[in-house]
Amino acid sequence: MSESFYITTPIYYVNDRPHIGHLYTTTVADAIARHRRQAGLDVFFLTGTDEHATKVADAASERELTPIQWADYNAEIFLSTFGRYGITNDDFIRTTEARHKEKVQHWVGQLLETGDVYLGEYEGWYDAGEEEYVPDGRAEELEFKSPISGRELIRKKEKNYFFKLSAYESTLLALLEKEPQRVQPDARRNEVIGRIRDGLNDVPLSRTGTGGWGIEMPGDPEHRIYVWIDALFNYLSTVDTDERRHYWPASVHLIAKDILWFHAVIWPALLLALQRIEGNEWIAVPRQLYAHSFWIHEGRKMSKTLGNFIDLERLEDIVSTYGLDALRFYLLSQGPLSVNDADFAAGRFHDLYQAELANKLGNLVSRTLHMNAKFADGCVPEPGAAGEPEAQLVAAAETACQAVETQMADYQVGRALDAALELAAATNRYLDEREPWKAAKDPEREATVPTTLYHCCEALRLVAHLLLPFLPATAAEIFSRLGLDGAARPADPTAFGGLPAGLPTRKGDALFPRVERAEAE
Ligand code: MSP
Repeated sequence: MSESFYITTPIYYVNDRPHIGHLYTTTVADAIARHRRQAGLDVFFLTGTDEHATKVADAASERELTPIQWADYNAEIFLSTFGRYGITNDDFIRTTEARHKEKVQHWVGQLLETGDVYLGEYEGWYDAGEEEYVPDGRAEELEFKSPISGRELIRKKEKNYFFKLSAYESTLLALLEKEPQRVQPDARRNEVIGRIRDGLNDVPLSRTGTGGWGIEMPGDPEHRIYVWIDALFNYLSTVDTDERRHYWPASVHLIAKDILWFHAVIWPALLLALQRIEGNEWIAVPRQLYAHSFWIHEGRKMSKTLGNFIDLERLEDIVSTYGLDALRFYLLSQGPLSVNDADFAAGRFHDLYQAELANKLGNLVSRTLHMNAKFADGCVPEPGAAGEPEAQLVAAAETACQAVETQMADYQVGRALDAALELAAATNRYLDEREPWKAAKDPEREATVPTTLYHCCEALRLVAHLLLPFLPATAAEIFSRLGLDGAARPADPTAFGGLPAGLPTRKGDALFPRVERAEAE
């Protein structure tokens, strides 16, 4: 059986509709999932919605709806949006589904039995928007304001069930210090280590006064399981079936920096607590957590108050002007995967579309296939003897294939995408050097034309192969134009020379049509 690979995105709150941030994380996960599938791995890719938050119930009541009505409405929009944007998730979990709720109650019940969850009282600084307590020291650092919404933290006292997070301090610290790949990028891991060293308090695991919205605490329905604990369990509940259990532990949880603490500290601690229970030995800690940064918009943080969110309407506009793969290209190549935020700027989007997609890739496709029609009867020609320029092109292809693999091993989708496009650039240079349009008219060089065109077609096949996880529709179109639709794909798709001669090629329209800058703005 092939090696399995399990990748997740956060599950998104359904108080509102999706925006670029949700689409971004999900698109990065999609590119990684497609890449691993292409390599033959048994992939499971999960996304979904987090529904038991107070802000969901509040948004519902503002509209005179029940929480579940509003959750149903928005969950459907998340689901259909991801479908429309070509996301290849294997399942979509909603935390209001019975399959999830039953598992969460079961696991929390087990933790009650071991004493990892106990009834106690808590007083602390509470960030209402984020539904989380902020440790005293950190609240002071933040000047008692939410780092996300900027609103004042509230002093709050609750009788609650607690999770004994403090008991896992040294185990967590050892995990992170000995196995640096567990939390990436490094700066994020160091941040977490620093905060664990400040000391871990037990954390509330339940709440009261939610108006009945939330999963009931086993044996004490007055209390509802705290939305964050409920939500984290989605990663496990979805694969806790006989067919799927082999996917656990997750290969990577992809998130953004806003929810690092829950994923890097509370989640592994919950799993460590569960794993000690007989029968739960399979519940290991996920292999890796990758926390990216944020998209900002034209230099400013996106927020409701500023009204500058790149929302669904805006995304739709972009797709209808430039196409879905152009949006994926911008998100994947320019996105905030590192510790720095990334700026979404319309001008830059346009310029990159023009330079990278239209001029580099689109132009290569068009030149190659037009010349193929003109000088090779519209078929992949039989190559003759290869010379130095061909050897250089083959070397460029090998370099690109290796670079994509190396970058994707570390989830560096932007750099992988650059490496794939670098092969397109190398092929353009090769064409410029070989000048088949002139060679065809020169009796001394005429014989090189089939060789040149074969090498261009084959390099194009490799470019499409490398681009497939990132620009799936573009890659499929290139394959189709190369006559590969029904044809058998080469056994080793990255070996140069796998494209059979004789396949019928097709010119087609411009892959990335010209867009006027004004139209874009
Ligand atoms: N429901 C919780 C997560 C529970 S996971 C067990 C939640 N939901 S959320 O709807 O607020 O989504 C947060 C996630 O959306 C971020 O971690 C990130 O993946 C994505 N993004 C939201 N805004 C973003 C940007 N401005 N930029 C990039 N990604 C962003 O938190």
